[in-house]
Amino acid sequence: MEHRRHGLATRALHVGQGPDPSTGAVGVPIHLATTFAQESSGRHKGFEYSRSGNPTRGNLEECLASLENAEHGLAFSSGLAATTAVMLLLDPGDHVVFTEDVYGGTFRLFDKVFRRYGITFTAVDPTDPAAVAAAMTDRTRMVWLESPTNPLLRVVDLDAVSELVHGAGAIVAVDSTFASPVLQRPIELGADLVIHSSTKFLGGHSDVLGGTVLTSDDALAERLRFHQNAVGAVPSPFDCWLLLRGLKTLQLRVLRQCDNALAIARWLEGQDAVTQVYYPGLDSNPGHAVARRQMGGHYGGVVSFEVSSGDAARSFLERLRVFTLAESLGAVESLAESPAFMTHASIPEEIRTRVGVSDGLLRLSVGIEDVDDLLADLEQALA
Ligand SMILES: Cc1ncc(COP(=O)(O)O)c(C=O)c1O
Repeated sequence: MEHRRHGLATRALHVGQGPDPSTGAVGVPIHLATTFAQESSGRHKGFEYSRSGNPTRGNLEECLASLENAEHGLAFSSGLAATTAVMLLLDPGDHVVFTEDVYGGTFRLFDKVFRRYGITFTAVDPTDPAAVAAAMTDRTRMVWLESPTNPLLRVVDLDAVSELVHGAGAIVAVDSTFASPVLQRPIELGADLVIHSSTKFLGGHSDVLGGTVLTSDDALAERLRFHQNAVGAVPSPFDCWLLLRGLKTLQLRVLRQCDNALAIARWLEGQDAVTQVYYPGLDSNPGHAVARRQMGGHYGGVVSFEVSSGDAARSFLERLRVFTLAESLGAVESLAESPAFMTHASIPEEIRTRVGVSDGLLRLSVGIEDVDDLLADLEQALA
C-alpha cells in the first residue's frame, strides 16, 4: 500500500485522497452514482453497482486500512454492522469467548441474535489471559476482545492474548474503538481482525454513523468482502466523505482528548464525592503498565467514575452545562452518560452488577474544549 513510510497524521490526510485525476479537485469527490457504465458486459472501470463497490467508499477503505497498518479495509453502515460482518465468518456450533464488559449493543447482538443461529458464547475478564485460556474449548473459533473496554476502561494485553489464542487455533478480533489507530494498532500486536465504530473517534463530530473492519489476512478479507456485498450494510457515499473529512484531524483531536481526559481523571481522584475512577492513564489503574506499553503513552478520551448511588449519578448529569448528557463518545464536544441506564441498559442487571457496571457509574467522553472549562463544569455538577 502506498505511503507506508509516512507517519499516521500524513497518511490520514493523503492515503486514498490524492487530487481527483479527472479534475484536479483537492477534496475527494462524493460519487453518488448507484450504477456505472460498462463498455461491454462485465468490462468496466472497476465499479458496477454501488453496494458492491463505490469510489468514495474505496477512498475511505484505503485510508482506514493504512491507519491500522492493515492490508484490507472494509467500511460498513455502523459499528454493529461491522461486528455483524465479523460474526458472519462463523458457523452454527462455533464458540466465541468474549470480553465480559463489552459495549451493551455488542452483548445484545451476541446474546439475542447470533445465539439464535447456534453460536455459543462465554464471557471472561480477558485482563487475565489465563481466564481466556480456561474458557476456550475445541469449538472455539474466535476470541472477541475490546480494549480499552466500554465502560470500565479495562486494558487487555493484546500481544499475550493473541499468542495464546492462536496457539489454540482460533482467531482474535479486537474492537479498538476506544483507542483509535492513533493510540493502538492491534494487527501489529497479533490480532487478525480490528473493528471500530467509526461513529466515535474516527468520525469525531457526532454527525455520521459508521463501522469498519481491518485485516491483513487475505482469506478473511475475501469472505468479509463477500458478506459486505451479500448482506448490504454499506455506508452511503456522503457518510464515507464525512468520515474521510473527520480522519484528517484524527490525531490532533485524539491527542488533545487524551490530555484533557488525563487531567480530568487526576482531578476526579481527589474529589470526596467520587468513590472510584477508571482511567488507564492513572498510576493506580491495574491496566496502567500494559496501557503504557500498548497505547504509546496516551490513554484515550474516555474516563469513567463512580458516585455513591444512581440518584447521585442522575443529579450530577442533570447539572452539567458544558458536557452534554448524551450517549456516544469520541467526538470533539464532551458528553456524559450513565452506562447502567443508557448505553448498557440492554445487559441484564445481574450481569451488569457482576461485571461492575453499577447504577452510580458515570462515563465521560472528553472533548477538545478548554480543560479549565470542563473541570469547572464537573466541579459545579458534583457540588
Ligand atoms: C466499543 C463500541 N463498539 C461498537 C459500538 C457500536 O457502534 P455503532 O453505534 O456505530 O453501531 C459502540 C457504540 O457505542 C461502541 O462503543
